[in-house]
Amino acid sequence: MKTRGDTKRLGPALTCQARMLLWLSCAIWLLILAIMISAVSADVHRISCGLHPAQLTQLGLAVALNPYCLEVQSAHHIAIRFTARDVPHSLREDAALCVYRVTQEAVQNIVKHNGAKTVTVELIAENNVIHLNITDDGRGFEVGAKRATASLGLISMSERVRLVRGRIAVNSKPGQGTRVTVLVPLQNESSA
Ligand SMILES: Nc1ncnc2c1ncn2[C@@H]1O[C@H](COP(=O)(O)OP(=O)(O)O)[C@@H](O)[C@H]1O
Ligand SMILES: [Mg+2]
Repeated sequence: MKTRGDTKRLGPALTCQARMLLWLSCAIWLLILAIMISAVSADVHRISCGLHPAQLTQLGLAVALNPYCLEVQSAHHIAIRFTARDVPHSLREDAALCVYRVTQEAVQNIVKHNGAKTVTVELIAENNVIHLNITDDGRGFEVGAKRATASLGLISMSERVRLVRGRIAVNSKPGQGTRVTVLVPLQNESSA
């Protein structure tokens, strides 16, 4: 049989257990929340890297490029400053994809070849033209040299830009960094 003293001691013990249960359920909820957040950020990352054209249209060019630059920055310890000005959320799919892929190739070239410390990726929409400027302070290269014209990366960049009736210029000199400039019209000839 329980005495009065036993019952008195039972009260605080139960309160303590209730508190522990509360803490435990809070901790579980936080854990679930953290798992959900990391799944969402993994999704955004996956979408922005292995990007499908329809997903690029949904995210918008600037929103898709930002995490790409951040990811390269943290993976390769290069400071990449990405800025976007007046870029409409919905762009022609082929123009958006072209700019996205050209940025990827240009940034990969910086990572692969040139030991840059600082990179700027600038995206501006003006007078129905997208301007993409990618500048690095790496070792630079001779643009007309055989090595630069024999590989597919720079050629595929030019070809992508040509297909959307844009223009591309690669300016570089050994020891002076590299600047890739791309202009892509936002209107089809038929709608211009
Ligand atoms: N940003 C850059 N900085 C220094 N060198 C570069 C850069 N971009 C291209 N290059 C030079 O141009 C060459 C051709 O580049 P690319 O056509 O992309 O082929 P790949 O990257 O497969 O070598 C590279 O091998 C490299 O020597
Ligand atoms: Mg390349």
